[in-house]
Amino acid sequence: MIQAHRPVMLEEALAGLAVRPGGIYLDGTFGRGGHSGAILQALAGTGMLHALDRDPAACAEAWTRFGALPNFRIHARNFGELGAIAAELGIAGKVDGVLLDLGVSSPQLDDAARGFSFAQDGPLDMRMDPRSGESAAQWLAHAKEAEIADVLWRYGEERNSRRIARRIVETRTQAPIVRTAQLAALIAAVPGPRSRTIHPATRSFQAIRIFINGELEALESALQAAPSVLAPGGRLAVISFHSLEDRMVKRFLREAGDGGPREPFAVAPPASRLPPLKRIARVFPSEAEVAENPRARSAVLRIAERLP
Ligand SMILES: C[S@@+](CC[C@H](N)C(=O)[O-])C[C@H]1O[C@@H](n2cnc3c(N)ncnc32)[C@H](O)[C@@H]1O
Repeated sequence: MIQAHRPVMLEEALAGLAVRPGGIYLDGTFGRGGHSGAILQALAGTGMLHALDRDPAACAEAWTRFGALPNFRIHARNFGELGAIAAELGIAGKVDGVLLDLGVSSPQLDDAARGFSFAQDGPLDMRMDPRSGESAAQWLAHAKEAEIADVLWRYGEERNSRRIARRIVETRTQAPIVRTAQLAALIAAVPGPRSRTIHPATRSFQAIRIFINGELEALESALQAAPSVLAPGGRLAVISFHSLEDRMVKRFLREAGDGGPREPFAVAPPASRLPPLKRIARVFPSEAEVAENPRARSAVLRIAERLP
């Protein structure tokens, strides 16, 4: 069954963004519009909310829910292009708040046809934007064993990465791996260290999804662009769901605080050209929220403010 998406740390994110009527806001991850809806409510018909999502289904939902509002626009774009999008819209340096609520939404995970879930059988796709790039099945059909192992280790911290990669490469010589259940069963059958709390395919599915969608690259580009997109006093709010993302955000904010990021953000412009960001808060979900919405369990919200 496809569940509605419950926005994570809704009140905390809204408070962190300090939404004020008349302001310009950018929600980089519309999803099902939980956060966007709350921002629009706080704007009370004033200001402007630009929302992005690379998933056409999310954009269709945005049209249905808020398409008639004059202070709302949805853009079917990747937030990795945040800087270019803000420049195209003429709002670079003028945005009062940018929100990134990372990862996939519940409807994406719950729709077996999207191929994100090892718990339900479906085509092995995993693309947030099914119109572009390679699906997980297409990539697994040609990737080298060492590349697969590297992805599983780097993006899933999967300790069994080498054995799983070997089994994938052996299996595909007999039949292509094209279904989520097929991949999940293959991984579950590989001997090796096991967690007692999560399904053996959890980390591999996370890793392949992050790789297929270039999630960390998009986050890095958006973080790089955020200081120049924000107006002085504007807020950046990022909700991460795993340590790879949160480490990146934490490190970026630490380094952006004293004049801009350095290594490993190799594409960073010279530090002196980036306006600094001040760290405001790090927030975790309440026990009550985690009890009600297990998806919130691993969430971390970080808030920063652009200095003048
Ligand atoms: C966790 S959900 C956001 C949920 C949303 N805040 C809500 O309350 O409904 C993440 C959404 O961001 C989208 N997304 C993830 N990475 C993206 C990217 N790089 N560019 C644009 N959209 C992205 C996904 O397609 C998904 O719809």
